[in-house]
Amino acid sequence: MSEPDTSGPDTTGPDTRGQANALRILGGTADDYDRIVDLSTGGLDARWKEWMLERMRAHPAAPTQVLDLASGTGILSFLILEAFPECHLTGVDLQEDYQAVARGRSEQRGLADRTTWIHNAVEDAVLPEATYDLVTTCYIPKYADRPLLAENLWRWCAPGARLVLHDFAHPKHPGVDRYLFKQHQLWLTKVRKSHPHWVGCFENLYDVVKASTWNTDFGPLLEAAGFVDVSLTELNHGTAAVLEARKPS
Ligand SMILES: C[S@@+](CC[C@H](N)C(=O)[O-])C[C@H]1O[C@@H](n2cnc3c(N)ncnc32)[C@H](O)[C@@H]1O
Repeated sequence: MSEPDTSGPDTTGPDTRGQANALRILGGTADDYDRIVDLSTGGLDARWKEWMLERMRAHPAAPTQVLDLASGTGILSFLILEAFPECHLTGVDLQEDYQAVARGRSEQRGLADRTTWIHNAVEDAVLPEATYDLVTTCYIPKYADRPLLAENLWRWCAPGARLVLHDFAHPKHPGVDRYLFKQHQLWLTKVRKSHPHWVGCFENLYDVVKASTWNTDFGPLLEAAGFVDVSLTELNHGTAAVLEARKPS
């Protein structure tokens, strides 16, 4: 198993080291992703998504065109489709097997005509400009080339669009950090025996989250791109955060 890439940014072209980290962490895990993310976060993944939905519902106008980045198996995507029955949702994800799960679910649930699944990295996805009035994600900020993503978001967003972007974060409190580290070690021991395809996740995720500066650098990048009302909310002792912003109307 190679080490996760936690070095500084590259200066030429899209920085794909985050994508390589994502594949180290999540490659081959699509089939049981939903169960493991729920168990390994002690149910927090679902609570964080519910918190994001509350923020989305708080807006007076329901979204019509939603872009869900790193849509994965579609856990967040389907919650949004249920919460906003008039919207169309486009999900973008790097991994074909994750998208196959999401696409299959959209067909089973009669939502195929309300969804578009694009198999691509968010750094070089070709999407219509000035289109989306809500952009969401769970877990892309730490992996993405954020300067490039901020520019892409500006191009893809319609005037007045809102961003609700979530990811894990590295907690400042040493006790909470120690607890998280131990949890990852515990999960690593568990999956080595019973779910070897998850070893890459629990070997690498803690270090990738610890090295990421997304929760301090992405807000300023969004502001530099032109977004306003940028705000970061830390959740559960800073173990996760949600970054919100708006494109002026
Ligand atoms: C942990 S999963 C999250 C899935 C979904 N958002 C959820 O909350 O259920 C992270 C997803 O990010 C995707 N991903 C990572 N880097 C990406 C990138 N640069 N472009 C597109 N997708 C990416 C991975 O393929 C994976 O499906």
